[in-house]
Parts: sequence; C-alpha cells; structure tokens
Amino acid sequence: MAKSEKKASPQDTMIELDFNNVMTHAVGGENGLKADDIDELKPIFTEAHKDLMNRRKDGNLPFYDLPFQTKDLRRLRRTAEDIRKRVENFVVLGIGGSALGTRAVFRALRPLFHNMLPRAKRRFPRLFVADNVDPEGMASLLSLVDPRHTMFNVVSKSGTTAETMSQFMVVYDQIRRSLGKSSLKDHVIFTTDPEKGILRTMAEEMGFQTCDVPAGVGGRFSVFTPVGLLPLAVAGVNVAEMLRGAAAAEESCTRAALWNNPAYLFAAVNYALRQKRGRNILVMMPYADSLSEVADWFAQLWAESLGKRLSTDGRVVMAGQTPVKAVGVTDQHSQVQLYMEGPQDKVVVFIASSAYRADVKIPHLFKDQKDLAYLGGHTMGELIQAEQAATAKALTAAGRPNMTLRLPKITPASVGYLLYMLEVATVVSGYLYDIDPLDQPGVELGKRFTYGLMGRPGFASFKADFQKGAAPKKKFIVG
Ligand code: PA5
Repeated sequence: MAKSEKKASPQDTMIELDFNNVMTHAVGGENGLKADDIDELKPIFTEAHKDLMNRRKDGNLPFYDLPFQTKDLRRLRRTAEDIRKRVENFVVLGIGGSALGTRAVFRALRPLFHNMLPRAKRRFPRLFVADNVDPEGMASLLSLVDPRHTMFNVVSKSGTTAETMSQFMVVYDQIRRSLGKSSLKDHVIFTTDPEKGILRTMAEEMGFQTCDVPAGVGGRFSVFTPVGLLPLAVAGVNVAEMLRGAAAAEESCTRAALWNNPAYLFAAVNYALRQKRGRNILVMMPYADSLSEVADWFAQLWAESLGKRLSTDGRVVMAGQTPVKAVGVTDQHSQVQLYMEGPQDKVVVFIASSAYRADVKIPHLFKDQKDLAYLGGHTMGELIQAEQAATAKALTAAGRPNMTLRLPKITPASVGYLLYMLEVATVVSGYLYDIDPLDQPGVELGKRFTYGLMGRPGFASFKADFQKGAAPKKKFIVG
C-alpha cells in the first residue's frame, strides 16, 4: 500500500444513488417516473440477472471477477515497484478502453498536479497517457520525457490498433537510436492479449516484459486488469484498496432484487427515462476536478456499449443515450442554462462527495461589502457542496430529472466501487435495449477507410470507395 494512503474503512465504499429527483413527486407527471415504471421492468431484470450470473459462472463475463485476482495483483505490484525504482516517467501508449480508465483513476486519486510536483513530494514517477496521434501532442510529450528515465507501456489488447502501434513504432525507433536496440526491453513493457497478437509474438521474440489483458475482458471493462492497474500502481495509486471497493460493489451489484441493486436501478431509471420521457442525453456531472475524467471514462463506456443500430435478433433499434460530460461548478457557468431551459431531453447525473481531501477556508474580508462578506468564514468545500445541492434543487424545480451518486469521500475504494457499479449498469442495460453491450461494430467502417488511406494491404478497395464518394461538392464548402 502506498504510504500516503490510509487503509479505508468499510463505510468508505458506501456509495448512495439518490434518484428522488427523477420521480413524479419531484419533477411532475410529464417529466418524472412513477415507481410502477421501474416495477414494470422487473421481469426483464429477473431474466437478465439469471443470464448474467450463468454467463459469469461459465467464464463468459470475466470482468465480474476482476476484483478478486489477488495472486495476479501481488505480481503486478512487484513489477510496478521495480519500474518505480528505475524510472522518472511512465508513459502509456494506448487509446479508448486502453487509456480512459487509467486517466480517470489517476486524476481521481493522485494529487491534481502530480506530474508538476518535484519527485521528493510526489514520490512516484510521473504518469502520461498518450491516447491520440495528434502529431503536436506526441512531439511535445517526447520532447518532455528523457527515454533514459522513461518506461513506455504499450497497451493494446488486439495489438493492431493503428494509433497505439504508430506511437510504439515512433518510440521504438527513438529508443533504438538514442540508447541502442539492447535497451529496448528496459524501457518498453507490453500489456496485451495473453496468447495472441503481434505484441505477444514480438514479446516472445524480442524479450519484452508483458502483462496480460485477461481473455474475454474488453477494453472499456479493463480498468481492473493490468491495463489500468499497472500504470496506476506505478504512479502510486493504492490499487489493492481500489479492488477492495470494486469487491464491495460486486456484492451489491449482483443482488437479484432490482430495488436492492444500485447498478440495476441506475440502468432501469435511465432506460425508463429514455423510453418514456425522451431523455436521450445523459449528462454526467461530477462536482470535483478530480472526478472530471471519470465522466470521460463513463462517456466511452455508455456510448460504445449501448449505442447500437441492431438488436440481438437483427432489428433496427438505434439504441443508446448520448453521454455528455460536465464538471461542477465550472459548467454551471456554461451548460446549466441549457439544462434548465433547453429541450426536455436530458437527465443529469451528479457525482457528489460528502467530503473533500482538502479544504480551503475563505477569509473574513471586506466587511462593508455585504455581497462579498457573507462568504467569509465558510470553506470552499461548503461552497461547492451548496452549489451542487442548489443546482439539483433548481433543476428539480424546473421539472428537469436529475439524480446524485454520492461518495462518502474520494478514495481508492469509493472510486473502485463507482467504476464497477457503472460497468454492471452498462452490461445490464444491454438487456433492456436488447443489444450486445460488449461489441462496437460501428467503429469498424471508419477504421477500414483509414487503413485504405494509409495503404494497409487488403484495404485498397476502401481507398477507392473513399475517393469515389469523397469528391467534394464546391457548393457545400465555404471559406
Ligand atoms: O473499449 C474498447 O474495446 C475499445 O475502446 C478499445 O479499448 C480500443 O479500441 C483499443 O483497442 P486495443 O486495446 O485493442 O488497442
């Protein structure tokens, strides 16, 4: 366990889902739900629960069991410890599910300015997640990290993702040129499929260290595998505590009864709001800078899992809710106007914390200015909490459904709980929409056009297709 983090108490994981403000008693009959609307879904949940538990038992939903991989965790922590001693920077090369969980938890649990702190204060390597091929971003990252003091973690389950593999090729070449080919295995570690793929073969041939993405765990469900755990452990996150929180969530999110299971209720409420009240947009709004990237992680999970054209039996359903990120209080001054008065097509999900890791007292000043003086003596923690409660109240008064996920405090355990709960909510939502939440067929066509344009063998027809359809019509371009 990282010295900086005390062991959490069991209450630490007790996350509350308060959905009073989506009910008719709060937002009115036209906008809200009745308990009956949720009860109506009970038969689907009974079936879904049975099927999920059977699939889990048969080993087909391994994400459920990730919090209990204690033997693997010991090995992973030893690897992380060894890396920590040797390097100053840990750079994740990965995208989508291979990056977002790491980003979210790193931001949630390490000091907000971790990478800017001097080593003595931060005690752990700096962590960077390169999840784009923006040439400017990549060039500036590479100019910042000295390869001699850096470990690059290539995270790709498939080993064919163009973005990640192009980054790897750039880094490989840089290390080979600056430090020599024999140094590569001291500065590169792969996280990939345990058996197949280019990275696995390369690791065997060239002696790179590897970590496994367990078979059957898709990218966006992989934060509790070495995909997330290795970089997070290197950067000083208490991953054992995070898994303990996820294990507590496993207990409550595998309860059969809909009204006792927070993940099932989260899914049910959002589904009913979408189907019955036209809430096509889910705004995830954490009231903490540290949780801002949890909203990004959730956006991928909800969008890529549930946004599907076809049902499991091939009907066109165009399922899903569009996730939108907002951060409280910052976005009160940018988006909340729309949420209060714009189209009635959203549900706002607040993430609130009952306590913050630090607080700042507002001094008693400007006694003659009564519009300022009232702030003196309060803390910023009080202010942010008051603003969250006030925004929820205002939305409710305007007939805008909203709910709150309340963490007792932002700790490794509560964050582990939150992420696990949202993963279960996503998977069970697949049954409600009757779609497969674990695939992502909609991203394939764009990938194929890219392969065609970049000259990948076997994809020439996509280049031809692209060029045929892409002749720009002058009339529709301006500037
Ligand atoms: O959630 C997913 O499955 C995707 O976002 C993948 O994680 C992403 O496409 C990266 O894939 P890979 O890990 O194979 O490089």
